[in-house]
Amino acid sequence: MSYTLIDGKKVADIIRQQIHEDVQEWIARGNRPPRLQAVLIGNDPASKTYVQAKTKACKEVGIESNTAVIPDTISIKELKETISVYNKDDSIDGILLQLPLPAHLHPSKVIETMDFRKDVDGFHPMNVGRLAVGQPTFRSCTPAGILELFRYYSITTKGKNAVVVGASNIVGSPMAIMLSRENESGKATTTLCHKYTRDLTQHIIQADILIVAVGSPNLITGPMVKEGVVVIDVGINRVSDGSAPKGYKITGDCHFESVAEKASLITPVPGGVGPMTVAMLMKNTLLAAKKSIYPEEYL
Ligand code: GUN
Repeated sequence: MSYTLIDGKKVADIIRQQIHEDVQEWIARGNRPPRLQAVLIGNDPASKTYVQAKTKACKEVGIESNTAVIPDTISIKELKETISVYNKDDSIDGILLQLPLPAHLHPSKVIETMDFRKDVDGFHPMNVGRLAVGQPTFRSCTPAGILELFRYYSITTKGKNAVVVGASNIVGSPMAIMLSRENESGKATTTLCHKYTRDLTQHIIQADILIVAVGSPNLITGPMVKEGVVVIDVGINRVSDGSAPKGYKITGDCHFESVAEKASLITPVPGGVGPMTVAMLMKNTLLAAKKSIYPEEYL
């Protein structure tokens, strides 16, 4: 079977262009530019790269941003105080706390102190709860970006078997909620697999839509999937490769060649889901700015 490669970079560029226009219009109506406060803790090179990509995207769409680079020795009390300052600062619309945090800082304990109206990642319990009961909210950027890819490629979800592998708070869990809600991007029969799932293949083989967000290279191989499946690979894994300039290459959670052979559509890694996450963060930050001024209109 020949497959279509899902071009996340292309779709993200289109969305970012639209956001750029929306930001211009917002400013032309007399509003100040939206503003994102990023918080980067410690020296994780991947986190540093992600935050740089996000602040660069901000600049391109006309969103102002600032990054607080904080040593990993910060205590939870100090970090909560920092967040509290951002909560109270009316010039900040969105707060981005880049994860993962160092081991001594429990993410939930920090996230719950954030003003949910500035939680552009959609991680605050208020926003997750609103998502679960079908109220308008900030939706976690990666799953929201995946639904945008479905829209662009006319991939319908109604009545389909959707299998999500990986139950993280960032991707798998909100993805499963979105796919199972009774709305235009949901209505799928949704299975959420995780590390306690006994026979992964038994579930995956049923999937019309397969979303994998585990962080385990080559976890999914061709024989595990159904002919014609739509595959969204969220994994970003650094695998050592002596022939690559940096000594490593980036791969997803799927063994691309064998899975692609059976897929109807599939995302590449990199260039699939990653750019969509950044685009949706831009969208949420503009939404946060709008909600702060017109809370009724944009709820
Ligand atoms: N770490 C991995 N993905 C994300 C994300 O979407 N947002 C934040 N804040 N941290 C992440």
